[in-house]
Amino acid sequence: MPSGIRALIFDLDGVITDTAEFHYRSWKRLADEEGIPFTREDNEALRGVSRRESLNRMLKGRSIDEETAQAWMTRKNEYYLAHLDELTPAHRLPGVTRLLEDARHIGLRLGLGSASKNARSVLEKLALLDAFDALGDGFSVVNPKPAVDLFVWVAGRLAVYPQQAIVFEDAEAGIEAARNGGFWTVGIGTATRGLADVHYDTMADVKLAEVLSKVGDG
Ligand code: BG6
Ligand code: MG
Repeated sequence: MPSGIRALIFDLDGVITDTAEFHYRSWKRLADEEGIPFTREDNEALRGVSRRESLNRMLKGRSIDEETAQAWMTRKNEYYLAHLDELTPAHRLPGVTRLLEDARHIGLRLGLGSASKNARSVLEKLALLDAFDALGDGFSVVNPKPAVDLFVWVAGRLAVYPQQAIVFEDAEAGIEAARNGGFWTVGIGTATRGLADVHYDTMADVKLAEVLSKVGDG
C-alpha cells in the first residue's frame, strides 16, 4: 500500500484560523434571546461539529419543532456572518502561512476539510482561497465528522490515498473521522491531546520535518 506522504488536509476552525469565538458569540446571542443557559464551557462541545449538531448540543435535550430549528440556525448564521466582516488575513493563526508555504515548497498537495458551510467565505477573508488544491466544506458530503466522508472526499479530489495524507485537526470529532478513514493525524490544542499520531499545542509549534519523520514512510 503506498504510504509516502503526498498531501496535507487541514480543518479550518481552530487550525487555520480561530473562528470558535465568533461561533460562540453567535450561539450565545441566540441562546440569550431564547432564554437558554449557554456558557463558554458549553461551547467547547460544539467545536468541530456541524451547525445542526451544534444546535442540538446547545439545546441540551430541549425539544423544538423543525421550523423553529431552521429559523434558529439561520439566525445564528446571520450573527456569525456579521462577525466574519471583522476577519482579515491577520487572523490566520500564527505558523499557518509558513506551514502552507513549506508544504507547497516540497511538493505536497494541500486540501481543506471543514464542517463549515462558510468555509469558502472564511478562506476568502483570510486571502487563502488559492492556497488549497481541494476544498471540502459543509456542502460537500451528507454525513458530518466524525464520519470519514469529508476527508475521503478531499483525498479523492487530491488524488491521494488516505495513507498518503496527514489531517490536521483541533477537534475530537475530526481526529476520529480521520483515523476512521486511515489518515495520519496531527492534533492541535488540548481537545486532541493523546488522540493523534503527532500532537502540538498550537499551529505555531508544528514542525513539518518532524511530522514527516513520524508518519508515513518516515
Ligand atoms: C466547524 C466549527 O468548523 O463548522 C463548528 O468548528 C461549526 O463550531 C461548524 O458549528 C459548522 O459551521 P457553519 O459555518 O456551517 O455554521
Ligand atoms: Mg476545528
